[in-house]
Amino acid sequence: MGRYFVLLGPPGAGKGTQAVAIARELDVVHVSTGDLFRYHRERGTKLGLLVKDSIDRGALVPDEVTVRMVRERLAQEDAASGVVLDGFPRTCDQGDALDRLLAEKGQQLARVVLFKVGDAETVRRIASRRICSKCQRSYHLINSPPQHAGICDVCGGTLIQRADDQPETIRRRLHIYWSETAPLVDYYRKRSLLAEIDGEKPVAEVQRDLLAALTSAQS
Ligand code: AP5
Repeated sequence: MGRYFVLLGPPGAGKGTQAVAIARELDVVHVSTGDLFRYHRERGTKLGLLVKDSIDRGALVPDEVTVRMVRERLAQEDAASGVVLDGFPRTCDQGDALDRLLAEKGQQLARVVLFKVGDAETVRRIASRRICSKCQRSYHLINSPPQHAGICDVCGGTLIQRADDQPETIRRRLHIYWSETAPLVDYYRKRSLLAEIDGEKPVAEVQRDLLAALTSAQS
């Protein structure tokens, strides 16, 4: 039986930062729909051209396109033993679609963890975020800077600011989070799948709390 987890929270809550570490710790795969869309956008693939406008404006990519991409990713061999989903689902319809995708594989969701972070903190974090243009690793100019300015510690790629990390786009993404994605909190709470953690703590403390929330679901 695979282990399938969802990390839920507003833009800049730290989902990506934690997902990388926790996937390694639990020996499961990290699947970020945002990273996948950016990968296609950077390479100018057919999917990348289709979603470029939506992601640059901070709007949601249509469910149909997103679900198809997730279906293909979950069908890959490395996803058989478990996945940490970061950025998906983002609407209740996507939540229903995820249940169907897992059911097709004879699997079900083990746990959903909500990162509770206020808007002021997420805006502060996003303003100082830089990502690697090659491997997409995320840095923070003050809290977790790279060893050499502008260069990724992992692959030597150039660090850039995401196109959707501009102030007006951040406001739009937050608005969409509260109107479209936040209803998933009740959706999962009613099914007793939800755990909530304080995402405003330092990275190491959030990681400890996240691990506790996920491993308690496995026992
Ligand atoms: P996506 O990439 O998923 O963006 P997001 O959900 O808005 O989340 P972010 O990546 O902004 O934040 P994060 O929570 O991962 O924070 P991070 O760890 O980087 O989606 C981008 C776009 O793709 C969407 O707008 C949409 O267009 C499209 N899309 C994606 N999924 C979709 C879907 N399912 N349906 C439709 N469209 C979809 O941390 C942020 C910063 O804070 C970093 O600098 C980090 O170093 C720092 N930091 C992290 N943790 C801490 C901490 N504890 N203390 C201090 N600093 C911290």
